[in-house]
Amino acid sequence: RKFMIINGPNLNLLGTREPEVYGSDNLSDIEKYTNEQLKLLWNEPVELDWYQSNIEGEIVNKVQELLKSDYEALIINPAAYSHTSVAILDALKTLNIPVIEVHLSNTHLRDAFRQQKLTAKSSTIIMEGLGKRAYLLGILSQLIK
Ligand code: DQA
Repeated sequence: RKFMIINGPNLNLLGTREPEVYGSDNLSDIEKYTNEQLKLLWNEPVELDWYQSNIEGEIVNKVQELLKSDYEALIINPAAYSHTSVAILDALKTLNIPVIEVHLSNTHLRDAFRQQKLTAKSSTIIMEGLGKRAYLLGILSQLIK
């Protein structure tokens, strides 16, 4: 079983970026946490492929690669692009696998400009406010029956 996880702009700075909002773990800590917890919780092997980019077009390209692959779902934190990117929305619309959009923070408690989520219009599931657990729980949402 195989999942793609895409993280958008500024998530490469997790750990030092607004830790009071996003926590003190960096992205590789979160990857390690997710892989380790998944091994404890799920007996079958699960492959997780992690990708991060600050560049909108690179995220579009990565989403398009999923069209000719055997990933069973995409977990994506589009970060600020969720509020602005028609290009990422359109790319996500081409997929016929579940799209799980995650936000580490609960954006409902935050700025007005974070309330619009363009990408959410093509998401199957939206998870917010779970911090680093979001990725693990997004994957588990597809594994459990
Ligand atoms: C975020 C929320 C977005 O509003 C913000 O631009 C981010 C991170 C989150 O994970 O909570 O960069 O997607």
